[in-house]
Amino acid sequence: MEPDFWHERWHSNQIAFHQDEVNPFLRAHFGRLHTGAGASVFVPLCGKSLDMVWIADQGVGVTGVELSPRAVEAFFAERGLTPQRRTQSGFEEYVAGPYRLLCGDFFALSPALLPAPMFVYDRASLVALPQPMRRRYVVHLCSLLSPGARILLVTFEYDQAQMDGPPFAVSDVEVRAHYDEGFEIERLAREDVIEREPRFRERGLSALTESTWLLTRRP
Ligand SMILES: C[S@@+](CC[C@H](N)C(=O)[O-])C[C@H]1O[C@@H](n2cnc3c(N)ncnc32)[C@H](O)[C@@H]1O
Repeated sequence: MEPDFWHERWHSNQIAFHQDEVNPFLRAHFGRLHTGAGASVFVPLCGKSLDMVWIADQGVGVTGVELSPRAVEAFFAERGLTPQRRTQSGFEEYVAGPYRLLCGDFFALSPALLPAPMFVYDRASLVALPQPMRRRYVVHLCSLLSPGARILLVTFEYDQAQMDGPPFAVSDVEVRAHYDEGFEIERLAREDVIEREPRFRERGLSALTESTWLLTRRP
């Protein structure tokens, strides 16, 4: 998916991926990230997700990266926050309260802009990308992380022949292929969610499972 695809989605308000409620897997498993005081959670491809609000309510900071200025500005406006803005290494940085959102291309992020994140929340980020981009995404994400870093990852599995992505189906095998080399991998949950996701049934799916993973970077 190229940037124009996402800009057009935000421009035309075709943002069905945006949830009006906090993701239940985040609520259930956030504790497994073991964030401590002063921690910050990195949210790649963050959109204007309410999950960031819930994470901040746990007493930690949130750093997101998002292509669309519309999404970033809507996130702050919907919270009644007026962020401070500055340009940094090609990104527009918006900061208010516990939130620091970098507007720009995830693939252009450098460690200088994002000092080694220890905690990552990935919902609708890896699965938003087609297969060749997913490999690039994982390689780039890993280049930003330090040993011991933990990722809470949410993935979807379904028959890709029944529906075009995004979101794309990401199998267990694929998760392990991406992360096996450098991470301890623990699956925290796997649930059949087709009943509570009618929009996917309307798009042709007969079955849909959602998995939550805890990935811990080996030293
Ligand atoms: C499927 S949405 C998910 C958003 C959010 N994670 C959520 O749960 O609502 C994917 C988001 O990633 C953004 N995006 C796509 N490619 C990106 C990139 N290369 N760099 C930064 N953001 C990107 C899109 O604009 C879109 O808001």
